[in-house]
Amino acid sequence: MEKHKILCIADLEAAASRVMPQSTSDFYNSGATNQVTVRENSSAYGKYRILPRVLKNVAEVDTKIGMFDREISFPLCVSPAGLQAMAHPDGELATSRACASLGINMGISSYANYPVEQITAVGTEIGPIHHAMQLYSMTDRAKEARIVHRAEASGCKAILLTADSPVLGVRYNEWRNGFLPPAGLEYSMVEMTSKQIQKQSHDDSFTSFNSAAHSWATEIPWLRSITKMEIWIKGILAPEDVEMAIEYGCDGVIISNHGGRQLDETPATIDALPACVQAARGRIRIHIDGGIRSGTDMFKALALGAECCWVGRPMLWGLAVDGQRGVELMLRILYNEFKRCMQLAGCKSIADITSSRIGVVRPDGP
Ligand code: FNR
Repeated sequence: MEKHKILCIADLEAAASRVMPQSTSDFYNSGATNQVTVRENSSAYGKYRILPRVLKNVAEVDTKIGMFDREISFPLCVSPAGLQAMAHPDGELATSRACASLGINMGISSYANYPVEQITAVGTEIGPIHHAMQLYSMTDRAKEARIVHRAEASGCKAILLTADSPVLGVRYNEWRNGFLPPAGLEYSMVEMTSKQIQKQSHDDSFTSFNSAAHSWATEIPWLRSITKMEIWIKGILAPEDVEMAIEYGCDGVIISNHGGRQLDETPATIDALPACVQAARGRIRIHIDGGIRSGTDMFKALALGAECCWVGRPMLWGLAVDGQRGVELMLRILYNEFKRCMQLAGCKSIADITSSRIGVVRPDGP
């Protein structure tokens, strides 16, 4: 028997920690402050139980959903996470190719190590893929506009405005280690050379361009005035903010706490989801990320009202293990688990995954 066969995302995480230097896994895997939210994002899924239907003829199941202007193969996208070239030299290029080969979409971080032009081009060469550009509110509006224009010219379909980061979260791990990205890596989108990156901490570089003075009124109408791309807000947990996104005419929201990396002790996203879905009343698209590690987690998120799931760290683990092939393996694991979960729960199509398929909620967790 193969000693380290990778059958599930936990196997992939273990394989990645065998190959990544400690400072890399600390940076990728840590959350903010006491790591409460990063843990609970995953463990909270254990509170929900699936109530299957039987004898439903699930020989053929349709896992596809519509996103932007086409179908994706199943309800998953890859979250925008920075510094992917630290996991593998091909970084975001490998991720883009992997997403395209599995027929799903990808978010590109403003801290990507490769330029949006190249990331979108290599994906499109492989197969159908749409990209969304993640954006932070910046003090330098001209620079922010350049990111938006480059993304649009490269074919990105949406801006994901990250709203949970007026300042960087409390990152004890980064501060203790004096974390610095490896020399030679650049942040093309925020226009930082390797030399500039090496000169200051991650916290200082973030503070140097990020605007804590952002608001709905300053950001959304301005973005609307400079782009035709869809505008999504990433990092919403409160139903009131879903209302605000609707009021400001946004196209979608991602229920997210930044993978537990910003404010610690926020609710797990799966626990925040139902109230947000209720507030939306179908008026805005709702996606979710944070702690999703199995096809069963995806099924539960859809049953509780999300239209689509996103994953961050599992992509980084796939990259670290085997570049593009590692990300493809991660996506295939989630696809197979999700499809099998649908079959075992008696769901032939995504529309069958309703709240009636959640049987038991255990308030104190598993
Ligand atoms: C992130 N995330 C993130 N989000 C964002 O809006 N801009 C960014 O640059 C980054 N960078 C980043 C780096 C790393 C190393 C991680 C792990 C995450 C957050 C990301 O988009 C997503 O919200 C979470 O990763 C989802 O949680 P899981 O799937 O990692 O648990």
